[in-house]
Amino acid sequence: MKRRSHESAEHHVTGKAVYTDEQRQPSGMLSLYPVISPYAHARILRIDVQAAYGVEGLVTVLAAADVPGHNDTGPIIHDEVLFPTTEVSYWGQAIVWTVGETEEAARLAAEKVVVEYEPLEPILTIESAIAANSFHNQPQVIKHGNPLEALQESEYRLQGEVLMNGQDHFYLETHTSWAIPDGEGHYQIYSSTQHPSETQNIVAEVLGVPINQVNVTCLRMGGAFGGKETQANPFAALVALAAYKTGRPARLKLRRHHDMILTGKRHGFLGKYQVGFDGSGKIQALDVNLYADGGWSLDLSPPVLLRAMLHVDNAYYLPNVKVVGQIAKTHKVSNTAFRGFGGPQGMIVIEEIIDRIARVLQLPPETIRDRNFYHGTGETNTTHYGQEVRDNRIARIWQEVQERSNFTERKSAIAQFNQTHPHCKRGLAITPVKFGISFNKLLYNQAGALILIYTDGSIQLNHGGTEMGQGLHTKMLQVASRALGVKIERFRMMPTSTDKVPNTSATAASSGSDLNGQAVKDACETLKKRLAPVAAQLLQDSHPHKSLEVLTEEIVFEDDWVYGRSDPQSKVTFEAVVSQAYCDRISLSATGFYRTPNLTWDANTNTGTPFYYYAYGAAVSEVEIDGFTGNFKLLRVDIVHDVGSSLNPLVDIGQIEGGFVQGMGWLTMEELVWDNQGRLRTFAPSTYKIPTISEIPEQFHIHLLERASQDGTIYGSKAVGEPPFMLAMSVREAIRSAIAEFGQADYIPLALPATPEAILMAIEAIRNASEVSTPLVGTSQT
Ligand code: MTE
Ligand code: MOS
Repeated sequence: MKRRSHESAEHHVTGKAVYTDEQRQPSGMLSLYPVISPYAHARILRIDVQAAYGVEGLVTVLAAADVPGHNDTGPIIHDEVLFPTTEVSYWGQAIVWTVGETEEAARLAAEKVVVEYEPLEPILTIESAIAANSFHNQPQVIKHGNPLEALQESEYRLQGEVLMNGQDHFYLETHTSWAIPDGEGHYQIYSSTQHPSETQNIVAEVLGVPINQVNVTCLRMGGAFGGKETQANPFAALVALAAYKTGRPARLKLRRHHDMILTGKRHGFLGKYQVGFDGSGKIQALDVNLYADGGWSLDLSPPVLLRAMLHVDNAYYLPNVKVVGQIAKTHKVSNTAFRGFGGPQGMIVIEEIIDRIARVLQLPPETIRDRNFYHGTGETNTTHYGQEVRDNRIARIWQEVQERSNFTERKSAIAQFNQTHPHCKRGLAITPVKFGISFNKLLYNQAGALILIYTDGSIQLNHGGTEMGQGLHTKMLQVASRALGVKIERFRMMPTSTDKVPNTSATAASSGSDLNGQAVKDACETLKKRLAPVAAQLLQDSHPHKSLEVLTEEIVFEDDWVYGRSDPQSKVTFEAVVSQAYCDRISLSATGFYRTPNLTWDANTNTGTPFYYYAYGAAVSEVEIDGFTGNFKLLRVDIVHDVGSSLNPLVDIGQIEGGFVQGMGWLTMEELVWDNQGRLRTFAPSTYKIPTISEIPEQFHIHLLERASQDGTIYGSKAVGEPPFMLAMSVREAIRSAIAEFGQADYIPLALPATPEAILMAIEAIRNASEVSTPLVGTSQT
């Protein structure tokens, strides 16, 4: 479909776009502020709020005793207390919340609250959680073939570890919630949430009321990236509780440092692997243990871990695999969804392995990648969890991105450059992405829509998805306009609200437009079916020889006109049809619904067809690193990405750019540092470095794969939100290949994130390894 700029683009740049906390405030609105724990793990001995009441403007203090329903906001299991009463589980955990006439009053009062603690030993790393046997769950296993036997029989064997950091979402709009009580026991919540229905459920649970008493509305989010899939729930519950207790409207908008201290992040992971391969570099067997740092409560860790386990293959056929996954329980924030949802953490492991294989065999990494791709049909094109990779587009994309980036020529040019530059080296790398689309949890793969046509022909469009900057609303307007055959200007996109479309899924797993698009289309089809006989009646005079039934069958809605296919010249306006329908007492509103077909998943064996299809892409990145400082510069990036038949190329290219840069941030610069007492030391932009415009490559070429229409999706399109994130693995591999130029070694250890310090240390290691003489190549190493 068409390139069309984001429906709110102009309002974003002029500041007119209204976010939750920018609405006109109702009078008498109160503000909340947290009292946070100075310990990562402690017993709570005493909470004394008396002194807070001495502060002018303090209205009340919210604590566990105020909760009429459940003092818990856990989305999967009830392990997430809203107000801890006996134990502190992470540094910065909010113990009580002050409620003031102003945020300033609440803040001053919070300083007066006295909490006595008995500090306890915290568990702060995955390694120490393993040592202490501190886990949220039992080990999960996916097994295919005979991995252990095949390992023993492999010509070559390697083992190793990959430790990766988490990532802060750093959305521009921090967590925000409003609650407005109506005085009759109902609560209108405005929340910056990706999952309004779950927020609604949890608010109802905390208040101890039926779900229908609570309505949750999300206007739009100033970014979410998975960080508002569950993390918005406690804040919505808190303002609701404040409204319940005081009878007044209440708001909460986290300060940036509180947002970074209190909310869950991408899971850090530890991957331990053993791989067996042959002399050509083909992987024979893989045995992987993935440990996710779940933090203090479970949150979404099980599905995040599962997605990691389902993506350790990336685009590679693994004949014999065992993947074991477990969630470490630590005294840190409860880690959560973040773009890629575990996929990146799983895929990093296999890319690390591939590079090691290449260096041991002294073959180019891209050759090893190529040799291991899924291919053919049947076994060699089937994943370790039993889903066949139908519509496998890897080879096609791989070839195209190499051509478009002049890969071969540039590789030799870079080799020459490196020979003449002893202190500055360039690296070029290409990596693939295959990413499964659908929620792993089957029941989430459903969506609804509600379309209301008014008598003047103007329309309100509701669907269950939320807008977080990804352009979902824009795409839904395009889908509705095309499906109903009317101009886009006719629609008003309504804020996402649980009283319009109930029981929705999170806007997540990149499936927002796939699911809601089909639901919107379904509603449009229903409306057209109702309007077609009305139009036929109006057009009957110009089709004298046709029965009404026949004419009804051939009615076309197009561009605000309605006509019979056999005579496009005789037409009536959409308005005329609508107003006639109203006179004829035909309903002008309709719901739409969709569920993704053909998905299966057996949670006992961890096998099935959990994904409706895969999204594919590949990226070529070139970097230059400075041997004195470890600084790197990303010189050029070429991407070929498969979005099917794009719903909106402009939005899709924006998603690819943004996803790639965010992935690069995770892999190369964003560093979360907790000290040995579990205090997060990086909770502001001054200490936590996210990519800025200056890190964006000067040459950034993005090409959408052509002739790529996908069967069975909304207008042939494919999901785009998360897959490009993982294209950034090419940056890390390019850095690695540049580091390799500083010496000779069959292993280039490179810490994650690859900050200048990490790069410098890797260069040192390579230089030293070269002096000592490289370890043996060509023998079996375990
Ligand atoms: N793009 C912007 N601008 N802001 C965001 O918060 N979130 C990402 C991605 N792109 C995000 C974004 C994540 S994590 C997901 S799952 C998808 O958008 C969700 O939207 P979709 O399903 O409509 O693609
Ligand atoms: Mo995206 S991590 O699925 O919200």
